[in-house]
Amino acid sequence: MASHLLTLDSLGRDGIVRVLELSAHVKKLRGDTRDSLAGGRVGMIFDKPSTRTRVSFEAAIWGLGMLPIALRPDELQIGRGETIADTARVLSRYLSALVIRTFDQAKVEELAKYATIPIINALTDDHHPCQALADVMTMQEEFGDFAGLRLAYVGDGNNVCHSLIQAAGWLGFTLAISAPEGHQPKAEIVAAARANCARYGGGIELGHDPSAAVRGADAVYTDVWASMGQEKEREVRALSFAGYKVDSDLMALASPRAIFLHCLPAHRGDEVTDDVMDGPASRVWDEAENRWYTEQALLYLLITGRDRWERTT
Ligand code: CP
Ligand code: NVA
Repeated sequence: MASHLLTLDSLGRDGIVRVLELSAHVKKLRGDTRDSLAGGRVGMIFDKPSTRTRVSFEAAIWGLGMLPIALRPDELQIGRGETIADTARVLSRYLSALVIRTFDQAKVEELAKYATIPIINALTDDHHPCQALADVMTMQEEFGDFAGLRLAYVGDGNNVCHSLIQAAGWLGFTLAISAPEGHQPKAEIVAAARANCARYGGGIELGHDPSAAVRGADAVYTDVWASMGQEKEREVRALSFAGYKVDSDLMALASPRAIFLHCLPAHRGDEVTDDVMDGPASRVWDEAENRWYTEQALLYLLITGRDRWERTT
């Protein structure tokens, strides 16, 4: 079993299935897992803004009976030249786990190399594994099984897309991606997931035509056109992504039972219209709520290594 969550591949199929089982249990308890990990301490470093991840992790940590410790980047000695390795070694002496949102995936990997506690990737430029766990939980709640499911991803082949690609590989559903030229997901992530699909089913389809991806899909997913750190590219990207808006005409091509998913925050009117965000197919608020349950499950699994819920103190 994984001791870190660096990308979704850290968990593999068994780990993802265990997180989903534990998450369903936590949801039945309405998130009331009080004192399951009483006395623990979890640090959180956010080098980028966050609403959902920050609050759902803090609520999850507190709900498990642990102390959340927000570590502001400008208050850490890392900003004055202390190495990531030394920071990892020291924080491991105080904390039960460390949650980090940052730019460079290599920083998360470097922390994990020297830490003796679980390191949890709360989003990097390349991956957003915590989001993908809530996404697949929301799909499982809607459809039960992943076999035969088609998820269409419309937009940027970014961090969120990469984690969904890994999810499709491990859980064996089809992910049909339509992204403009120059914004396709990384080839090595696609190749690794395709190898998993060969074993578990499903597949990764790549193309440029949103209609082709969405036709017959059970779920349609999109994300912002300019991610955090790409603010200066916003106008140029708006031109490249102009044909990649999820509106009710595009949704009409999907299966009649199709749901709409978005990691949020949404830029309404850009990648998605109000009528889709607020329409009957939208599951975006459930998806956001599920972050809270999946994060409790993930913390429990990584900190205890146990796949059944029981008090540890
Ligand atoms: N989906 C997500 O990670 O949202 P935040 O950036 O608000 O944490
Ligand atoms: N791709 C987006 C996801 C935000 C949750 C970003 O990185 O800004």
